[in-house]
This record gives sequence, structure tokens and C-alpha cells, in this order.
Amino acid sequence: MVKEIRGRKLNLLIESSEIKQKVCELGKQITEDYKDKDLVLIGILKGGFIFLADLVRTIELKTEIDFIRVSSYKEEMYPGDIELLTEPQSPIKDRDILLVEDLLDTGGTLEFIRDLILSNEPASFKICAFMTKRKTRDIAIDVDYVGFEIDDKFVVGYGTDFAEQGRNLPDIYVVE
Ligand code: IMP
Ligand code: MG
Repeated sequence: MVKEIRGRKLNLLIESSEIKQKVCELGKQITEDYKDKDLVLIGILKGGFIFLADLVRTIELKTEIDFIRVSSYKEEMYPGDIELLTEPQSPIKDRDILLVEDLLDTGGTLEFIRDLILSNEPASFKICAFMTKRKTRDIAIDVDYVGFEIDDKFVVGYGTDFAEQGRNLPDIYVVE
């Protein structure tokens, strides 16, 4: 397995077995919460693709799946301006939207997407983030489902990248 990216060492943070268990718990909770609802999962590309793929297979309900693509991190590890690259194609009005994100950091990305979706008047709106970073934020974001709360370090794996590398790693690593 890859142990470094661009000369930076990777240290194991969350093992794939732990991830699998957590994703099942989230799927079970979502299944209970969305019984009789019109659930539309919107995954945020690219980082959310693996989490969404695993999560939907643990949800025992009829669901529709869509994606939104934004680019935020233009420089390897520094946040830049957020740009909408692909809008979801599914109708949003009067539907139960669950946004699926890999990682909440500053909240800038989720704020941008949340406001975009809310402007289309969904019946309900919730956020499911695989990871959230433990830090103080200027932007207030309510995350309804959280996989793991992690320290404020740069991580890679399970969909998240470091300079576009490492998305395929089955575990989460801290980039040292
Ligand atoms: P935010 O807008 O600062 O909350 O950043 C959100 C996006 O930046 C996430 O969707 C991630 O894709 C990416 N990101 C933030 N922190 C990391 C990290 O530690 N590793 C990889 N990607 C990250
Ligand atoms: Mg992302």
C-alpha cells in the first residue's frame, strides 16, 4: 500500500473496518429517519463519491441519487474560492434532500451548497458528513449525521485527496 504522497509520510488514522462499521450505523439511522419520505441523496464530488457509494448500500429505502460538483481547493492544501462545476439534475423543490460530504473543514463549501439547495425550496434539508474537523469556525454549519470527528490535520483516503492523490486508499491517513 501507498505510504507516502509527494514525499509526505502518511500515518494511519481510521482503519477501513472502523469505517465500514460507522457507515452501517449511519445508514441504519438514515433508514429510520427517512421512512415514508422522498429521499434524494446528493453527493459532493469529487471527495464524497466513495462515502456515498458505501452509504447508499446500507440505506434500506427507495432513494434517488444525484451529485453536485464544486471545486474549492485550487492549491494543494489551501482553500480557494468555491466554484460550481456541475449542478444536480434532480428536482429539489418539495423533496427530502440529504447532502453527502466527505469532510467539513472551514464550512465554506457546505455553506455555498446549502444555500444553493435551500434556494430551491426542498421539503427538508440535512447534511451527512463522513468527517468533521474539530475547530472553531466563522461559518455555522449544522451537520445532522457525522461519521468521525477528527483533529484539525490534513487527511487523505476514502475519497479525500492530497493533490489529487490517495482517493483510493481504503483507510484514512494524516498527511505529515
Ligand atoms: P471547507 O470548505 O473548508 O469545509 O472544505 C471542504 C472541502 O475541502 C472538503 O469537501 C474536502 O474535499 C476538502 N478538504 C478539507 N480538508 C481536507 C483534508 O484534510 N484533506 C482532503 N481534503 C480536504
Ligand atoms: Mg469535498
